[in-house]
Parts: sequence; structure tokens; C-alpha cells
Amino acid sequence: MSKNIQINTSPYSYNAVVGEGIFEEQVKEISDSFEGDINFLLVDENVEKYHSEIIDKAFEATGKRFYLMSVPEGEQSKSIDFWTTCVEFLLENGVRRNTPVFVMGGGVTGDVGGFAAASALRGAPLIHIPTTVLAMVDSSIGGKTGVNHSTGKNLIGAFYQPKKVVADIGFLKTLPRNEWTNGLSEILKYGAIERADILDRAQLFLEDDLSPISHENLIELIADCIQIKADIVEKDEFEGNIRAYLNFGHTFAHALEKDCGYQSISHGEAVYLGMLAAIDLSNQLGADLKPDKLLKYRSLYRYRVSKDQLSLEDLMNHMKFDKKRTNQHIRFVLLKEWQSPVLKIVESESAIHQAWQTALQEI
Ligand SMILES: NC(=O)c1ccc[n+]([C@@H]2O[C@H](COP(=O)([O-])OP(=O)(O)OC[C@H]3O[C@@H](n4cnc5c(N)ncnc54)[C@H](O)[C@@H]3O)[C@@H](O)[C@H]2O)c1
Repeated sequence: MSKNIQINTSPYSYNAVVGEGIFEEQVKEISDSFEGDINFLLVDENVEKYHSEIIDKAFEATGKRFYLMSVPEGEQSKSIDFWTTCVEFLLENGVRRNTPVFVMGGGVTGDVGGFAAASALRGAPLIHIPTTVLAMVDSSIGGKTGVNHSTGKNLIGAFYQPKKVVADIGFLKTLPRNEWTNGLSEILKYGAIERADILDRAQLFLEDDLSPISHENLIELIADCIQIKADIVEKDEFEGNIRAYLNFGHTFAHALEKDCGYQSISHGEAVYLGMLAAIDLSNQLGADLKPDKLLKYRSLYRYRVSKDQLSLEDLMNHMKFDKKRTNQHIRFVLLKEWQSPVLKIVESESAIHQAWQTALQEI
């Protein structure tokens, strides 16, 4: 079983295909659709380690030469230096304007590899092969590519749409379980802001080993999340207004990540707590949301940081410096009810304090 989602953007429309065991046939089909005799592959080092056999087989079957470059794991690969290395790799091996650049891995590889494809020759065809849950439902969709700078994350980059996204859940077999929660948090976010049934369907994440039926359900779930992100991005490609809804929980999350020095809390854990805080704040402002819909996933989140290592004052200060701040007050994505997000400036610091306190009880 596989699902196709059409993504409409201003330069062109392209497809994301989600399935299991689709990688080889997709590589061949995509390679055949380009003239020339070269393919490029930028691949996460762990993906290469676990899946080299199928990768080699798929690219050899295209009948074209292929150049592979390994992307070291971790956020440090999202640097100007490593982006330069990627661009040099493409240029020195003869990339042309119509040479496909396959970028395979999680969000790190997708962001830096995507930016390299966007900038070599002012843009070579980019194919995303996401191999983490987060990359499948989030980072490979929407066209944001880029690297970090010493002054902040994701500050250098380009909006650059891929020609195709191929999400093969077969690769998730080797993804460490703690990485799954990064994707789960984004999936729950889509449920909260757009389709509440997703909040129940994500229960397959609670299974130790996915049953065959769960594999199919996972494909459907990922496809639905891609559709939601695609619909939002289609309406607001360059992040002018409603794309901000995708930041549900993230204003709190960014403060937490900053306070933990981006070390002792993962992005997914921070987003999960951030959504709990946003739900509490929404309720204080008149909504009537039962947090149980998220709390049933609490056993999947295992925090390395303890509550007494965090200070509310520091968290509040980090929030005030977040880029979604408007004048002196902080702008939040909140919910009027499930599936009904709204952007709100909240002036009451005590309400925000209360929201933090509720969320931090989970740690
Ligand atoms: N472009 C966007 O719109 C967007 C959106 C959200 C996040 N991001 C970015 O995405 C990045 C996070 O992405 P991520 O969570 O995918 O992390 P990641 O790319 O760091 O991958 C997580 C870990 O999983 C490993 N890995 C990947 N696939 C694997 C597989 N199939 N089997 C075994 N190991 C595997 C990697 O080596 C790494 O150690 C951040 O830099 C974030 O800023 C970008």
C-alpha cells in the first residue's frame, strides 16, 4: 500500500509518496525522469550504515553513475562549513542544472542537503528521502532548507521546494525509539490544530512492535500529516500568517530548549510540554480542552532534565526574546477548541506562569 499527496507550491506541484518497500522503484523512476548519466546522494551516516545494501542496489539499478556523500549525524552538520563541503562535492563531481540530488536522512540531512541543492548552480533538482518520523511528517515538506549560525538556529537558508518526497517507513525499523517521539510530537500538533482524530490514531506509537495493520495505519497517519502541512503551506508558502499555526506549542518549547542549552531536552519532548502549556493557557482564556488526549502519550517521554533544574523566571525571559514576540507581549498559537487554532497576544504573565506550572508537572 502506498499513498500519494500532491503538494501545490508557487513554482510547481510535486508529489509526496508514502509507503513501505517503495524506495528502490521510486529511485529508478525518479532517476529515469531526468536526462544525464549521474545521480547524487547525500545520506545521513547512520542511514548509510544500516541500509547501505538497499541504497547501493537501488542506485546501481538506475544504470547511472552515482556519487554518495555521507552526512555526519547531529546538528553540527547544519553549519556553513558543512554546507560548503556539500556544495563542493556537487560542483567537483559535475552537477548540472538537471542532475537529481537525492537527500536521505532526518531533518538535519534534509535541511543542509536541501540548501546545498538549492544553491549549487542556483538550484539542482532536489529529492527528499526522509528517514525519521519527524522528517516524514514535517521537515521534508514545505520547502524550508538551511543551516544554523552562531547567533541562532536556521538563520541562513532558502525556501526551496523538492521535486519529490519519498517516505518509505521500512527505514524506520532502525530508528531509535527516542527519535520516534520527536515525530510523535509534531503528529499530535497536527491533531490538535487540524484533525482531532489523529490524537487517537497516534496510539500505534504506544505499541512495542508495530503489527502489520499498524504499518498500514502508520502510512495513513504520515500521509494525513503531510496533507495537513501541505494544505497549510499551500495557503501560506512564505510564512506570512496561518503557517504560524504549525508553531502550536513551540513558543514554550523553544524557551525550554534554550534553557536546557539544546542538550538535556529533545525538541520533541519540549514540543510535547509546550503543547500541554498551550492547552492550559487556552483553557485559562476560555477554552474547555481535556489534556488527556495528549497525556495518554506521557509514558513515551522520558526526560533527562528535572523540574528543579528549570527556573520559571529564566523560561519567561527566554520567551520574551523569542522571535514571535510582539512589542512587550508574547504571541501564542492557542486553541479555541480542538482543530480551531488562533493567534493571541497574551499580556497576563501570571497566566503564562500558570501554564508553565501545569506543563512542568509532567517532568
Ligand atoms: N525544514 C523544516 O521545515 C524543518 C522542520 C522541523 C525540523 N527541522 C530540523 O530538523 C532537524 C531535526 O530532524 P530529525 O529529528 O529528523 O533529526 P536528525 O536528522 O538529527 O536525525 C535523528 C537521528 O536519527 C538518525 N537516523 C535518521 N534516520 C535513521 C534511520 N532510519 N535509522 C537509524 N537512525 C536514523 C540520525 O543519524 C540522527 O542520529 C533539526 O535540525 C530541525 O531544525 C526542519
